[in-house]
Amino acid sequence: MTTMLERAKALAPRLSAIRRDIHRHPELSFEEVRTARLVADTLRSLGVRVDTGVGKTGVVGHLGTEGPIVALRADMDALPMQELNEVEYASQVPNVMHACGHDAHVACLLGAVMLLRDREFRGQVRLLFQPSEEGMDAEGKSGARRMIDDGAMDGVEAIFGLHVEPLHDPGTVHLSEGPIAASLDDFRLVVRGVAAHAASAYQGIDAILVTAQVVSALHTIVSRRIPPVKLAAVSVGTIHGGTRRNTLADLVEMEGTVRCYDPQVRETLLAEVRRAAELARTLGGDYELTFSGGYPAVVNDTALTALVRSVAVQLLGEDAVHPLPPEPGSEDFSYFLQKAPGCYFLLGVHAPGGTRRVLHSPHFDMDESVLPVGAALLAQAALAYLESQQRAHRT
Ligand code: NI
Repeated sequence: MTTMLERAKALAPRLSAIRRDIHRHPELSFEEVRTARLVADTLRSLGVRVDTGVGKTGVVGHLGTEGPIVALRADMDALPMQELNEVEYASQVPNVMHACGHDAHVACLLGAVMLLRDREFRGQVRLLFQPSEEGMDAEGKSGARRMIDDGAMDGVEAIFGLHVEPLHDPGTVHLSEGPIAASLDDFRLVVRGVAAHAASAYQGIDAILVTAQVVSALHTIVSRRIPPVKLAAVSVGTIHGGTRRNTLADLVEMEGTVRCYDPQVRETLLAEVRRAAELARTLGGDYELTFSGGYPAVVNDTALTALVRSVAVQLLGEDAVHPLPPEPGSEDFSYFLQKAPGCYFLLGVHAPGGTRRVLHSPHFDMDESVLPVGAALLAQAALAYLESQQRAHRT
């Protein structure tokens, strides 16, 4: 009997062709019109029921008609940067490039559909081709949130997704239960004071001095409000204020970011940022504080991570499967994980020739021999989940 991985490897030329087609024609967040059409056409040609325009430019495919639903996700958007690779399949769109490997994610998921299509299984597999993982729309919502708003996760009991990672050896799988990517909350704080001559400072409220107290307070949050065993970061990245050396500033603007891995820690951090800002009023000034971003942490389910690990070991061997320490980056897969338990894992890829080229670099490229591996992992994870549900129902 041909194994899942052997069947996947037979798809290699087709998956490379899909990845290269998308790589040549990258589209920015919420503009994935051509990519969505390619996905929908490919799914239809495979006999899959398709919904388009889900979460603006997203596509949802449906395999199977009844029973528990497991979802598989691929993000589709590219980045606003100029590709510097001189390859035949380089981006044909100036200043837009698939530098985060989302072209590969689409190819892997379409490969998984090809593998699942001729397998018999009880249950349903929902295929989520998501727009805009990298960006948010005017209302501050990324692609995952838009798809959820449109019902893409309704009834889903488990979800799996992968991301390529050029720092790891090709074809290796990296995963851990619990938090593996940080929550992200950016903030903007405007501190208002009262202008006065610098020599008569008592007549005004110095927005710069007030801001200095606020910045100090922000920097005590992690050291004095968060248990030392928890990971967290609060950083101020920009600060602008004042117009003249002999005039008290009446306005200071600053921006910063808050990262952590635990929802309770996140609640504390955000409350403490508000409290620190409140100092501006205590000291006689005023403030406006706004948060944006708001990605939750990616938290992998224990049982489903064990399931993906055993699938990876079965397909690739014990040596290819590694733990994944929490990463400071963020990923909007976290929104799907708030709707259903699941597992997000990394798939090692190198660039052609075995070199390492980091994500979000204008030189990012990948060894396409891993595309069938990603396809087999996703397909087998979905099957393993549906089989586990059948066993659960029998007992
Ligand atoms: Ni990415």
